[in-house]
Amino acid sequence: MKSLNVFTSLFVLAGCGICLMASADPTVITVHVDKPGAKLNSDFYGLMTEEINHSYDGGLYAELIQNRSFKDDPNTPVHWSVIPSVSAVGSLSLSDNDPAAPALNKTLELNIKSVPVGGTVGAANDGFWGLPVKPRTAYNASFFAEATNGFTGPLTVSLESADGHTVYAAAQVPALSAGWQQYNLQLKTGRITASTNNRFVIYGFHPGTVRLSLVSLFPPTYNNRPNGNRIDLMETLGALKPGFLRFPGGNFVDPGHYEWKKTIGPLSSRPGGDGAWNYHVSDGLGILEFFEWCEDLNMQPVLDVTDGRGWLPGNGDVAPLVQDALDEIEYATGGPDTVWGAKRIAGGHTAPFPLHYVEIGNEDFFDNLDVYNARFAPFFDAIRAKYPNLLIIATRGDITSRVPDMVDDHYYHNPQEMEAMSTHYDNYNRKGPKIFVGEWRTSEAEHLVTMNDALGDAAWMTGLERNADVVQLECYAPLLFNVNPAAYNTPVNEIGYDSMSVFGTPSYYMQKMFALGHGDTVLPIEVAAAQQSTTPAPISSGGVGVGTFRGNVEFRNVKVAHGDAVLYQEAAGASFVGWKPYFGDWSSADGVLSQAGTIRDCYTATAAGSKWTDYSYSVEARKVSGEGGLSVFVHFNDPENFVRWEIGGRENRESGIDDMSNGFVQPLGHHVRVSIENGRWYTMRVDVIGRDMKFYLDGNLLDEVIDTPGHPEKTVFASATKDSSSGAVWLHLVNTAAFAQPVRLDLTGSPRVDSTAAGQILKSDAASYNSITNPTLVVPQKLTIKHVSHSFVYTLPANSVAVIDIGIQQ
Ligand code: AHR
Repeated sequence: MKSLNVFTSLFVLAGCGICLMASADPTVITVHVDKPGAKLNSDFYGLMTEEINHSYDGGLYAELIQNRSFKDDPNTPVHWSVIPSVSAVGSLSLSDNDPAAPALNKTLELNIKSVPVGGTVGAANDGFWGLPVKPRTAYNASFFAEATNGFTGPLTVSLESADGHTVYAAAQVPALSAGWQQYNLQLKTGRITASTNNRFVIYGFHPGTVRLSLVSLFPPTYNNRPNGNRIDLMETLGALKPGFLRFPGGNFVDPGHYEWKKTIGPLSSRPGGDGAWNYHVSDGLGILEFFEWCEDLNMQPVLDVTDGRGWLPGNGDVAPLVQDALDEIEYATGGPDTVWGAKRIAGGHTAPFPLHYVEIGNEDFFDNLDVYNARFAPFFDAIRAKYPNLLIIATRGDITSRVPDMVDDHYYHNPQEMEAMSTHYDNYNRKGPKIFVGEWRTSEAEHLVTMNDALGDAAWMTGLERNADVVQLECYAPLLFNVNPAAYNTPVNEIGYDSMSVFGTPSYYMQKMFALGHGDTVLPIEVAAAQQSTTPAPISSGGVGVGTFRGNVEFRNVKVAHGDAVLYQEAAGASFVGWKPYFGDWSSADGVLSQAGTIRDCYTATAAGSKWTDYSYSVEARKVSGEGGLSVFVHFNDPENFVRWEIGGRENRESGIDDMSNGFVQPLGHHVRVSIENGRWYTMRVDVIGRDMKFYLDGNLLDEVIDTPGHPEKTVFASATKDSSSGAVWLHLVNTAAFAQPVRLDLTGSPRVDSTAAGQILKSDAASYNSITNPTLVVPQKLTIKHVSHSFVYTLPANSVAVIDIGIQQ
């Protein structure tokens, strides 16, 4: 499909379907070296994180003991087992009585009933799906213990193989006191072979009960921070040279999942919580540790503060949450004379953290706009008044109560959609708030990220870079995932790991190439694709329909006509006989068809097997309530093949036209600003003549589209930046086609160019992916291009992403 400016002459394209295939003609990419555009924000490429997929517990946070405070399951000490030696008898149980600290309200009791001389009974932990032990390494073990029922010690703490046959390191607590006390030991391994099938055990030798709390084991951490992070993961993240870190969510920011005031101070005062993704979280990586993570990797913090989404009733009092946000900002940035700054200093970090970005909530389009409008304003006013230099980010672009500095947009789509959406910000209103793309990801299937996903990601990223005058920050989500099937919530993520190893997905490597290889100024760029016309595709045909997205909507007076001939009409009071509901809760009464359900895409269409090609389809539509807008369908054949026009959706900002062909969605048309009012009837009309479709709202022509079936249309994507000090031009090129494509690169102004260009290329079969067992199947290779000039041809390999650094002689 192509969209035309409504004033463009139509006959040029009429009758010409376009199919893609390998072409000998190069695609021409024009880089306007002599017309530098906006500066790329120095923080542009960043990271987004939350506790999902065991990102921290069992991930970045280096703690090796799973369920260290026995709260993962209220009834059973999961990941713990009792290890009695021959003829010894003992058991483990959970107790709610007399805890070591109020926040540690579950105690593990190791009950040693009988034990022969030389025998033992131990409490063993199996780690986060493996307990990694490495040679010549010092591990810091600690736990609270209290001896009862006649037990006085000693205890032996052991790092050993899962069968207990090999002890890698051990240490002793000679005697235990009757009351709670914390014990700290160091376990040092020798010349052993690294392994993960291991356990950590606390052994007793005499009858009695040992009560245990907060049992912890840390390997060496990044920058040797106590309570710190895994070195390999920090290095993998650091290699991306990220400009910022968005934390702590995502959904994790919502109240009940992450309450920052409960994440500060000693670990024994952190109760942890339920998390957002169906597992208990320790909050060992708390607010101080988030900021220290930023400090360690030189990232700007993007602090997301909770606004009560999904928890506070729509009319609830937001003032306590506003105060909580102000306190959080003070905790990060305040001096010793402030209440919360003093607490940070007491926690060990004297210097204030730099903070420039604060986001209010996450994906607040799940609530009504009215709710977010009412909530955002007091946050904005309070933060702006106290911290006038902070940039304040909203989570929806249709906010009207205040003008945010930035809007956080999120996108999760398949590769075809992400490629098609690479133009998404081309027509964004330059006078509106700047954009933070705070979550985005291509995913084709519930599978590890493939090269095909990375191609979608790369195409999408070129669009963000080209529009860097508007797009200030971008980050992929989710960032981290533990590959154990019991650990992850979303299989498509950027960096995978188990307890011992880490791997980057093809998208990780693509993002690394982009983040490390770019200039500081955007160069305008045009891609004129080489396309080969083949037999014209047949003209589309089909029926008509109506729909919505989580909206309570109504439709009436449906008419399909060809000239004077009426092809279809709903007689007054008719009940839409023969219309087939696909999704949603549809009913009709008194000639009005209604949708009342709350699921995402709901639609219904004429089921007469209609094959209309030339017609005028009109319907009256009104939105009653809900999230989405009003949709009408033409060329409707089945749920995978149709054209849909929607108003009132897309945050009620603009009219949108999508083509769905064989299940692949592609946006069509222009960005026409339209907002609708609830309760008002609108007349939506689509005039279809052959390949030409015109879209009218209340009789006014909004947009025009020419139907040219076939997907995807574009297979070459590009962006360019310039290094203003060296003059070098950086190109990011993407070929999503399964065949090599020559591209001619024209640098305007005929600059004098170094004859050899260097860079990196990522290429592989579309279905290839990296994994724990094959971590480097898809990795970038060095690229050298010779005979470079201000106009040269380079052949992009099939399924490839190239980053090219062209030296310019100044
Ligand atoms: O990235 C996973 C989740 O997707 C985030 O928590 C949420 O913001 C989004 O819906």
